[in-house]
Amino acid sequence: MKKEEGESFERLRELKKVVRKHDENYYRLSSPSISDQAYDLLKKELDALEQEIDPLGLLDQESDREESDTPIDVGDDRLDSFQSHKHRVPMLSLDNTYDKEEFFEFDQRLRKIFDCNTLPYVVEPKIDGVAISLTYIDGKLSLATTRGNGVEGDIVTQNLLHIENLPTDLSSFHLPPLIEIRGEIFMNHQEFCRINEERERLELSLYANPRNLAAGTVKLLDPKESRKRKLEIVLYGLGACEPNTYFSKQSSFHQALKNWGAPIVEFLQSVSNADEAWESILELEQLRHQYAYPTDGAVIKLDSLEMQARAGATSKAPRWAIAYKFESERQETLLEDIIFQVGRTGTITPVACLQPVQLAGTIVSRASLHNADEIARKDIRIGDQVMVEKAGEIIPQVIEVIFEKRKSDSTPFKFPVHCPACSAQLIRLDGEAAWRCPSLECTNQIMARLEYFASRGCMDIENLGESVIKQLVDKKIVSKISDLYQLTLEHLLSLEGFAEKSARNLLEALEISKKQDLWRLLCGLGIKHVGSAAAKDLARNFHSLERISSTSLEELIAIDGIGDIMAQSILSFFNAEVSRSEIEKLEEFGLQTEVSLGDQALFLQDKTFVLTGSLTMYTRDEASAKIEAYGGKVSSSVSKKTSYLLAGPGAGSKLAKAESLGIEILSEEQFEELLDSMGR
Ligand code: IVH
Repeated sequence: MKKEEGESFERLRELKKVVRKHDENYYRLSSPSISDQAYDLLKKELDALEQEIDPLGLLDQESDREESDTPIDVGDDRLDSFQSHKHRVPMLSLDNTYDKEEFFEFDQRLRKIFDCNTLPYVVEPKIDGVAISLTYIDGKLSLATTRGNGVEGDIVTQNLLHIENLPTDLSSFHLPPLIEIRGEIFMNHQEFCRINEERERLELSLYANPRNLAAGTVKLLDPKESRKRKLEIVLYGLGACEPNTYFSKQSSFHQALKNWGAPIVEFLQSVSNADEAWESILELEQLRHQYAYPTDGAVIKLDSLEMQARAGATSKAPRWAIAYKFESERQETLLEDIIFQVGRTGTITPVACLQPVQLAGTIVSRASLHNADEIARKDIRIGDQVMVEKAGEIIPQVIEVIFEKRKSDSTPFKFPVHCPACSAQLIRLDGEAAWRCPSLECTNQIMARLEYFASRGCMDIENLGESVIKQLVDKKIVSKISDLYQLTLEHLLSLEGFAEKSARNLLEALEISKKQDLWRLLCGLGIKHVGSAAAKDLARNFHSLERISSTSLEELIAIDGIGDIMAQSILSFFNAEVSRSEIEKLEEFGLQTEVSLGDQALFLQDKTFVLTGSLTMYTRDEASAKIEAYGGKVSSSVSKKTSYLLAGPGAGSKLAKAESLGIEILSEEQFEELLDSMGR
């Protein structure tokens, strides 16, 4: 092998590795680390190099064997925790381009195949959501699956049933006896913002864009959690159809969907040649921001299904369609000011105030500046003209400064040294990017802490929202968690917007919250690094707040899931005088500070369960809650450490693995008996 050839193979290997990692991030983890455009560039380089030096895919045989069994090159979103289902017709990807010339070359290739001068196409929006396949048998929805690896996907029917516009029963129409309808699940901008705003308040990491959040929601293990987030669906494609003579054109299939009242794309233009298609693409680029779903391009398809079949597909994508991707939009605007948000743990987040500018369909006036280092690295200054882009079309970011337009009297931005809310001197801990306000009296932090305590993921106190908390803190009625339990009717009636009834409701909600499980209280206390999983671990292992507060580093670290940093943080929380007196008060007010179970209660302690198959007697959520209530743990994968596999009908690979490891397998009935035998 020549030197340059060796280098090319090296590059090909490297590209494959990098692209595989990005695929994993995007499809399986729903958390991409680069922009779609940057990914498309890498993928294009990979495809070209592969075509040039390894057209037979020999490298794949050499390196992919143990890492991937993906027969189609479309990524893989499958997770162990879901059952898989084989698509009757594979779910392929689409070739894509950002280049007008390449679009016309696509048309040229097809005209050559069909030996004609013009070809009729349809132009539709490319929806930036999560691909889904719906199988209808005799008009009734029987299955919803993700794309998976293109050949088989995960069954996610339960997580989609709450989608309002999902057609579940089309049996009153003339549908073929079996049909797979392809579409996209998405989350609208408003819902995306609602969820991210809530997460921002709780200082949880934000979702980068609606697509990732929709993908994560489709793959939630608990359908009840999934129901809390509003998803929508739009349908555009035909998979298997038996008999397959029902439809002759993409446009007539679209019309049929419309007649059935199914959710369809608003824009579907039939055109008679590539020039008209190009006009249509430009029109769509203007209109796309009006649609409820995020779009990142146009899809141009041969209209005739029979010609589609003749054109065929490569292993990745059909030859009869192409996606023309739109460049993400950027705008120039003035950075008017930089303000600061103070979070629950005192983190100071800088936010850019922009001269309002129209960007990708919305008016943008705020953008994230992340942290002090980011501002310094980009040398961002108040008064600069800056370029703003929407990442994944939703969270605006300041991309760069237009230095040529910088005013001569501009001065570097100085990050504040004092807290903008309480004036305490800010500190920066080793290894952290963020500056923090260390003051325990900082009103912004107090508000954020109380909001977190009351939030759904913690104590779930109804009617105790942001505006009530703000008033309580501003009026100095409440400054710490325990103060909430001393609130009286008079206090609440002194607040704006409260009448006798709403005040009583809130007092009632506070009373109810006293009985919340210990882990919720632990979570709500806001111990740094302790989220709900760790809080459950602590409750399960120690059973009372008192025992947790007198534990040792060794005892904590011995718990699976608690590491050194978290253990240190737990100890310093419970060693602090303020925390101790708070806990004492909460106990006095009658909050549940122990795991309230009888003597037999923790008989499942140290036992790890894996659930598989479709459970019929309980939802997975209910079964998990039972196991956890008796001190057991639920894990998603089978290993030597698994104590029991609870297997419902249709169990597959996990059952086989458990059998091979000699793990005890329980049917749902046996699980019930196990609980009974322990005198639940
Ligand atoms: S047609 C054989 N039409 O984009 C594949 N796909 O990046 C035919 N997508 O896998 C797909 N909008 O999940 C088609 N109007 C549209 C689409 C669309 C979004 C998705 C689809 C596809 C992916 C490729």
